Amino acid sequence: MKVAVVGATGLVGGEIMKVLTERNFPVTELIPVASERSVGKQIEFKGKQYTVVGFEDAIKMKPDVAIFSAGGGTSTKIAPLFAEAGITVVDNSSAWRMDPTKKLVVPEINAYTLTKEDKIIANPNCSTIQMVVVLNPLHLKYKIKRVVVSTYQSVTGTGKAAVDQLFAEREGRTDVPAVYPHKIDLNVLPHIDVFLDNGYTKEEMKMVNETKKIMMDDAIAVTATTVRIPTIGGHSEAVNIEFENEFDLQEVFDILSNTEGVIVQDDPKNFVYPMPINAHGKDEVFVGRIRRDETQPKTLNMWIVADNLRKGAATNAVQIAEYLSKNNLL
Ligand code: A2P
Repeated sequence: MKVAVVGATGLVGGEIMKVLTERNFPVTELIPVASERSVGKQIEFKGKQYTVVGFEDAIKMKPDVAIFSAGGGTSTKIAPLFAEAGITVVDNSSAWRMDPTKKLVVPEINAYTLTKEDKIIANPNCSTIQMVVVLNPLHLKYKIKRVVVSTYQSVTGTGKAAVDQLFAEREGRTDVPAVYPHKIDLNVLPHIDVFLDNGYTKEEMKMVNETKKIMMDDAIAVTATTVRIPTIGGHSEAVNIEFENEFDLQEVFDILSNTEGVIVQDDPKNFVYPMPINAHGKDEVFVGRIRRDETQPKTLNMWIVADNLRKGAATNAVQIAEYLSKNNLL
């Protein structure tokens, strides 16, 4: 299979190539795509060197699938050109996620809705993916009424420039342009993506809206506070979930222990709980600190951690491509 990676020189692009290799995705030819300034650069994939091309050349090379992680603007502009040429696009940006004609896919939850006609498939927001992988099996069992989530998000979610800002600050260098409006090292920013008229950020509203779309239930109420912290291993989330129906705590543990892609790490007496430092580079979503909310009935608290570049982006996108390939939908 010919696979184009659009944004191949970026953080997520690099991770996509690692995941394609690790999962043995049947790549016969890689087509690395980036902006004009990177055309001609060499990229190594499975021991072979590939030359970075621009998007027009990539379309001419007729890949079977193109995995995009080059930002919303680029995606809005060029994903339709790939689709018109018959190339299926799996897009990591927010450009198509809430378009009612496009599917927003987390394979464990809704890949079964995909058909050959889906030419642009949206990969959800990183914070949303790791949350819904855990919420969905509980929703199917107890029906979720309301979710209150606070996030602790890695700088890797902003891209290479943000990682550079963090390490430049840590090393006392001033030669790197800042991408955040404030210092990020030794700080916490209650601000991810742009502020909207309702006082929430766009990232917060992604969690609200994308959760309903992926879980196919508009009745689930979600309220979010999304926060950037100076870490690189992954995103963490404190999640409070109110159900319609009563749950049994042991049964919650059993359900999550048997959920594909989820690993329960919950042994607080031995200091075992999910942390970004351990999730780094892993494809699974880790959940722990699972406990009853003692202030109201039918309510649960938990802590969810995943590598945002992996399940939050690259892994989920490659899993979508795997599903399309295995089911002859390309
Ligand atoms: P480039 O390295 O040439 O700028 P990150 O989020 O880590 O900053 O990465 C963004 C990725 O998107 C990079 O690979 C970047 O390429 C790529 N990109 C940005 N603009 C375009 C564009 N117009 N066409 C293709 N790729 C683009």
